[in-house]
Amino acid sequence: MGQQWPWPPPPPLLLLLLLLLDTSVWAQEEVLENVGLSCSNAARFKHLRKYAYDYEAESSSGVHGTADSRSATKIHCKVELEVPQLCSFILRTSQCTLKEVYGFNPEGKALMKKTKNSEEFAAAMSRYELKLAIPEGKQVVLYPEKDEPTHILNIKRGIISTLLVPLETEEAEQVSFLDTVYGNCSTRLTVQTRKGSVATQISMERDLQECDGFQPISTTVSPLALIKGLVRPLSTLISSSQSCQYTLDSKRRHVSEASCQEQHLFLPFSYKNKYGMMTQVTQTLKLEDMPKINSRFFSEGAKQVGLAFESTKSSSPPKQAEAVVKTLQ
Ligand SMILES: *[C@@H]1O[C@H](CO)[C@@H](O)[C@H](O)[C@H]1NC(C)=O
Repeated sequence: MGQQWPWPPPPPLLLLLLLLLDTSVWAQEEVLENVGLSCSNAARFKHLRKYAYDYEAESSSGVHGTADSRSATKIHCKVELEVPQLCSFILRTSQCTLKEVYGFNPEGKALMKKTKNSEEFAAAMSRYELKLAIPEGKQVVLYPEKDEPTHILNIKRGIISTLLVPLETEEAEQVSFLDTVYGNCSTRLTVQTRKGSVATQISMERDLQECDGFQPISTTVSPLALIKGLVRPLSTLISSSQSCQYTLDSKRRHVSEASCQEQHLFLPFSYKNKYGMMTQVTQTLKLEDMPKINSRFFSEGAKQVGLAFESTKSSSPPKQAEAVVKTLQ
């Protein structure tokens, strides 16, 4: 059991209350909420709840200005973020599908179909749950199962990163440093709408090349790019940016909808080609349900890693890398 949290455990008074009162859930929530003021990223998600989202991610690449050279991959999953304790989470991904483009209709719209190994992908995504904690409210600590493949963990990292929106301040605009899949990133947050004092629409922008963990050199730029093995030479990256749009619940402040778009521009592979390559990654999460839960159980697990993407090349033995390509090609 992981009880090494930096904040104090629930006071004995609370335990007493729990023993005395069957209907003590309210008291409990209030007390613990005060304890967790330092956990502000995570404070959007109340403990003893489970947040169920519909997740979609699409990665498309192509030569700028041409439609039919485009390739695209689409992931769809059900995502559950369980919050057994304040600032501690369990992420589960299930019912995943993996689709790719097989052609284009006369209007130029991509036609997608399930890949041959969509089922295999689904099994890999749902095999292990991922535990994580945000003890100081800033840096995310992941506790993956030891057999979790890196490329699957990277996709889960992408989902977590998309869900983390700090609590707003009174200012309409602020620049903060946030932990993301690209490391510590300077991020511009803009509150677009408020209901009373509570933000209901927030946008975020970041230049990914300013993030301290952005390494187009050793890895592909994005988890979804990993799927198609779109490795580009390092010197050719022109720009990488991300913008996200959030809809937040006006009462409870959780994320009702998140949509993040990344754009990576490259110089062409061949110098005969006068257009740049572009990879675009779009991720969306839509809240479907948020039932209460009873389980407070959270154990940290032996392995501890950060939120930043890991290269599947350097960190996995060749055999596993081959398996990844086989699974996801
Ligand atoms: C992120 O970077 C900024 C600026 O370099 C630094 O002040 C901040 O402490 C960093 N945050 C984390 C969590 O490393």
